[in-house]
Amino acid sequence: MQKLRHLIEPEDFSLDELNHLIALGEEIHAAPEKYSEACKGKILATLFYEPSTRTKFSFETAMLRLGGSIIGFSDANTSSVSKGESIADTIRVMSAYADVAVMRHPKEGAPKLASLYSSIPIINGGDGGHQHPTQTLTDLLTIQTFKGSIDNQVVAFCGDLKFGRTVHSLIRTLARYNIKKFILISPEELKLPELLKRTLVDVYQVELMEVKTIEEVVEEIDILYMTRIQKERFFNEADYARLKDSYIIDKAKIQKAKQDMIIMHPLPRVNEIAYEVDTDPRAVYFEQAKLGVYIRMALIMKLLEVA
Ligand code: NCD
Repeated sequence: MQKLRHLIEPEDFSLDELNHLIALGEEIHAAPEKYSEACKGKILATLFYEPSTRTKFSFETAMLRLGGSIIGFSDANTSSVSKGESIADTIRVMSAYADVAVMRHPKEGAPKLASLYSSIPIINGGDGGHQHPTQTLTDLLTIQTFKGSIDNQVVAFCGDLKFGRTVHSLIRTLARYNIKKFILISPEELKLPELLKRTLVDVYQVELMEVKTIEEVVEEIDILYMTRIQKERFFNEADYARLKDSYIIDKAKIQKAKQDMIIMHPLPRVNEIAYEVDTDPRAVYFEQAKLGVYIRMALIMKLLEVA
């Protein structure tokens, strides 16, 4: 029996492990029926203390497609959390019921805390404005699928780079590959946190460029990663109202972009991508959400040691 593994942040997996997961995700994508009994008899628990559509349902779909079963809650008020139960106690008990658990929580570090008390693998399904490692896995599989390689790309992140946990996890992970250049597009108030920027430059020696508009860089982008302004993490309504429509891409704005640029978005979209862009072949965000199921199947198999 291997040491118990968790996925709390992308650094928990080596580059080799990430590449194996992507390769397995591609194999599952090509022939999902081959894996329909891979996790027969196993149970996945989804512990969602914060709203979710894609992460929760894609994990549930993934486990069901592997032949396993699911339990869980999507509203902590329907569980004993509302009676004041601690994360430590909840996870100790869930460890006895399920074989693997995904936790989403508004507090940074909550899934890490759970992992310290757990005897089953814990997957971070998003913790506050901190990390979202399984969205990163989804994003890596998407880039591999549509661009053929993760290396040598010019990647632009646009929107809420301050609170967006999908950005925080993805940029740290891409920095471990050979990315040509990162372009950060955000309003002054929603810039990528200074500490993260410093890590990217000092530890990974990446090239970072910060700009205020999409127009000034659109022609050089290979991957445009759009994000929603994270309303729930703002301290006041007025700031949100002022910043919420900072970036909206429409057909005209991407007219000069490369023909093989891809537009990604972790979803949900609010206003930042006009609906008219959905039919552009460069828009891959709905495919991206679909690929999330395959990579989560690969992840569950890895953590349950059936891969
Ligand atoms: C993201 C999240 O929860 O951080 N959603 C997702 O899991 N795909 C992005 C967001 O909420 O903006």
